[in-house]
Amino acid sequence: MKEQLQHAVNDQIRAEFESAYIYLAASARFDAQGLNGFAHWMRTQWEEETVHALKLYDFLLQRDAQVELQALSKPELSFETPLEAFEMVLEHEQYITGRIYELYQQAVDARDYPLQNLMQWFIDEQVEEEDSVRAILDDLRLVGDSGATLLLLDRELAARQLDPGA
Ligand SMILES: [Fe+2]
Repeated sequence: MKEQLQHAVNDQIRAEFESAYIYLAASARFDAQGLNGFAHWMRTQWEEETVHALKLYDFLLQRDAQVELQALSKPELSFETPLEAFEMVLEHEQYITGRIYELYQQAVDARDYPLQNLMQWFIDEQVEEEDSVRAILDDLRLVGDSGATLLLLDRELAARQLDPGA
């Protein structure tokens, strides 16, 4: 595997772990606020991002490429309310989608077909991810993010399970 691509994949491993870290921090904040369903959703998201990072990690090992784990930055949370939290999640996932597209393009340019295939999986995954976040955002905008309706949404989010395909 070309060295430049190996670096790019290693950098994406960092980005996925940093995503995981942000979601874990968000989970702790929601837990402290007594919003256990929101906390659970974020913790499940943490787990899913870890799965993404490991998918890239395993891919490098399978290709006999070098894994170079990088330092993770401290997660900074810029939200106060559940609505703001999910606006942050959508923005973050759109940023990740942009990175995945970039990596896919690099794989195309380098004619690295296995990496193109893997990136295709990530592209589909990002479509699903952004869609599910938008659905929660729609609910939050519709019912508002306080009072009894927030409690109902909190119960709903408590039911999230880790997608076995993720
Ligand atoms: Fe991810």
